[in-house]
Amino acid sequence: MKITIRVNGKPRGFDVEPNTLLLNLVRDGMLLTGAKYGCGVGECGACTVLLDGESVLACMVLAFDADGRNVETIEGLGEYDSLHPIQEAYLEEGAVQCGFCTPGFVMSTKALLSEKSQPTETEIREYLKGNMCRCTGYVNIVRAVQSAAAKMKGPG
Ligand code: FES
Ligand code: FES
Repeated sequence: MKITIRVNGKPRGFDVEPNTLLLNLVRDGMLLTGAKYGCGVGECGACTVLLDGESVLACMVLAFDADGRNVETIEGLGEYDSLHPIQEAYLEEGAVQCGFCTPGFVMSTKALLSEKSQPTETEIREYLKGNMCRCTGYVNIVRAVQSAAAKMKGPG
């Protein structure tokens, strides 16, 4: 099946099987390996990307369902020397340890802050409950989201 997806702002064409998963297309077809293959069954959030701005589990979405739509991955956020405020906040707050879960958390955070610019701690924990982290204990991740919200709000 021929599909066209706008990937991190650029239109790209792909030839996929009807059962190709968006996660496999992102990682193997686009060579964007930030989204991780964790559980493969929709339970860990490591594969989170944005589809038309909403966070989705790429291991649970068929590639052809993304036809004609916008897919945003962690690679579309910041550059090495000009990080996105969410990426900066995760680093500054020590919210990254092994990093396996981090791209998924960052993309979920982006979706959250686009829906609600100043979420409460309860709202942050609720929104991110589909993202699992084996390392950090979540406290620093919550702080990072709060810090990112402050950075993106700007002074005043
Ligand atoms: S790999 Fe998709 S939710 Fe775990
Ligand atoms: S930083 Fe290791 S799983 Fe989250």
